[in-house]
Amino acid sequence: MIPGNKTELHALEPEHLKNANRWVNDPDVRQWLTLHRPIPLRATRKWYDEMLESNSDHVFAICTKRGIHIGSIGLHQIDWKNRNAHLGILIGEARYRSRGYGEDAVRALLRFAFHELNLHRVNLYHYAHNSRARACYEKCGFRPEGVHRDALFRNGCYYDVAVMGILDREFRALENKSNA
Ligand SMILES: CC(C)(COP(=O)(O)OP(=O)(O)OC[C@H]1O[C@@H](n2cnc3c(N)ncnc32)[C@H](O)[C@@H]1OP(=O)(O)O)[C@@H](O)C(=O)NCCC(=O)NCCS
Repeated sequence: MIPGNKTELHALEPEHLKNANRWVNDPDVRQWLTLHRPIPLRATRKWYDEMLESNSDHVFAICTKRGIHIGSIGLHQIDWKNRNAHLGILIGEARYRSRGYGEDAVRALLRFAFHELNLHRVNLYHYAHNSRARACYEKCGFRPEGVHRDALFRNGCYYDVAVMGILDREFRALENKSNA
């Protein structure tokens, strides 16, 4: 388990997959992901089996300190040579959004990425109009690095995709500041 202050990141177990599948099929969540069609539970189970075999994707269940499973977070496409990875997160349970759980889980994952995996850089993509996600990532120290214009086509429109990144030295500087 990777501890945060409000959350704990647990190994993803088969019993987490029903929730994970329900959340990616929830239009309120899916609108912010690149997934564009309903995903059967069997496909989620297949993805899970492949993830277990892979050395380049680490996905965790986000739980509250009381053990309520509220979301998923992971490092994807881990590049062990260049020491970078993509971060992905969703808080699936609507009542837990905008209450600091996302920030706490991202910080816990960044500690793991930089202090355990010894990564140099973590990056992420988000729809440029996903203001809540951007606010969450900025609180964690991610910096905006640019925009891919018209990169995703959804619901009949093209959308800009924003790129953000954080380096290990930037994360450590934030940690030192908050410990001072
Ligand atoms: C994006 C997400 C992971 C963020 O997690 P979260 O727990 O909701 O985020 P936090 O509460 O830590 O931070 C969100 C911040 O945005 C603010 N916020 C909420 N709605 C906002 C909006 N429409 N515009 C701007 N800021 C907004 C919140 O007030 C909060 O800031 P504060 O702590 O200064 O008050 C979560 O909302 C989520 O999973 N959303 C649906 C799926 C998704 O968008 N995934 C990310 C794909 S890149």
